[in-house]
Amino acid sequence: MSKQLSVSAGGSLTGEITVPGDKSISHRSVIFGALADGVTRISGLLEGMDVLATIAAFRAMGVEIEGPENGQLTVHGVGIDGLQAPAGDLDMGNSGTAMRLLAGLLAGQAFDARLIGDESLSRRPMRRVVEPLTTMGADISTAEGGTPPIAIRGGASLKGIAYDMPMASAQVKSCLLLAGLNAEGRTCVTEPAPTRNHTEQMLQGFGYPVQVDGATACVEPGHRLSATELVVPGDISSSAFFLVGATIAPGSRLLIRNVGINPTRIGILNVLKAMGADIQLQDQRTVGGEPVADLLVQSASLTGIHIDEADVPLAIDEFPAIFIAAAAAQGDTLLTGAEELRVKESDRIAVMAAGLAALGVEVEERPDGMLVKGGRIRGGRVDSHGDHRIAMSFAMAGLISDGPILIDDCDNVATSFPTFAQLAASCGLGVSEQDAS
Ligand code: S3P
Repeated sequence: MSKQLSVSAGGSLTGEITVPGDKSISHRSVIFGALADGVTRISGLLEGMDVLATIAAFRAMGVEIEGPENGQLTVHGVGIDGLQAPAGDLDMGNSGTAMRLLAGLLAGQAFDARLIGDESLSRRPMRRVVEPLTTMGADISTAEGGTPPIAIRGGASLKGIAYDMPMASAQVKSCLLLAGLNAEGRTCVTEPAPTRNHTEQMLQGFGYPVQVDGATACVEPGHRLSATELVVPGDISSSAFFLVGATIAPGSRLLIRNVGINPTRIGILNVLKAMGADIQLQDQRTVGGEPVADLLVQSASLTGIHIDEADVPLAIDEFPAIFIAAAAAQGDTLLTGAEELRVKESDRIAVMAAGLAALGVEVEERPDGMLVKGGRIRGGRVDSHGDHRIAMSFAMAGLISDGPILIDDCDNVATSFPTFAQLAASCGLGVSEQDAS
């Protein structure tokens, strides 16, 4: 039996909230904490299923980890050469980040490993990491079709490469930089457009040198990571649902505290502001090396735009929410250059197009994006296809729909935002979780 979200029509979002910790930074905190010498203490960690999968994988490789409890995690690092062979498969659940980053890290270990995932992850493309890792000398293979499981044979000696990434992917970049820690010589990755830079920043925060020159990041072997204290900021990707909800729902005024605003993650702010949103960044500060602000968002009328393609990688996880904003806007919103959305936790172009159409919104699917004709959202029933961000985005549509919305297949909301329904209800969304009828 899977969970549904049941949303009543109307309402506004008011008050103050704090969203859970950033998922990308949480995964990397565990990974680098495990590889460091000494004890890393993390606070603000996201206790979502994706991050729990990463924690379980490192425990299976001999790393002692205490917690998580109230966002606190203590990782007893084993050093860059201290991981041990896991007894069985490493189950990455729904998490593409965990699978791709671990593939890079494990490619240069002395032991064999096999990475598996759930139904959604088992459909996602892994050649994008397997091919460059093979060029580096890894002994690594996937199922037919280039999908998981990923099987890695230990004992390969890796050589550094200079890799021009064909797509703008922080996961691929991070995978190769992690492989580069155990490769002979220098490993460099050049990206076609800026993507989130948490791996580069955090490696340096753990004392491991990374050379960044424009679009190219390089690492060399032979250094070590030192344990540190980490404070994970709130996830701008989780705040996106609330930014959209409070913008489209009349009478809203919502303060979202402690949100990470790393420049490689703020595409959602650029896009919503270009559409006419009223979002103020208050009390900008640096916490644990990351820029953070409180975001004050008030309702505003939105106008459709052609989304700047430069914002696509900077808002890559936020398009389900942006499509809801587009449906609420006056006029047409066009997204292009976003074919990567088709290989996320679901095909986010097809699944959002189907859900919007079910709610009476006129949409045209494109191979690399979508045209959304804004104006009105009806009530109805939509299928999230097990995609957490799609489920949460359609929940926000209820704020302006003319009838209730029922969203199917919502168990995976817990991968990134286990407290979503409670938090959204606490600030004014008429949402409840129920077992599927
Ligand atoms: C992530 C990178 C993005 C993003 C994912 C998290 C990361 O994927 O969609 O949710 O933590 O590196 P791509 O880099 O493949 O676009």
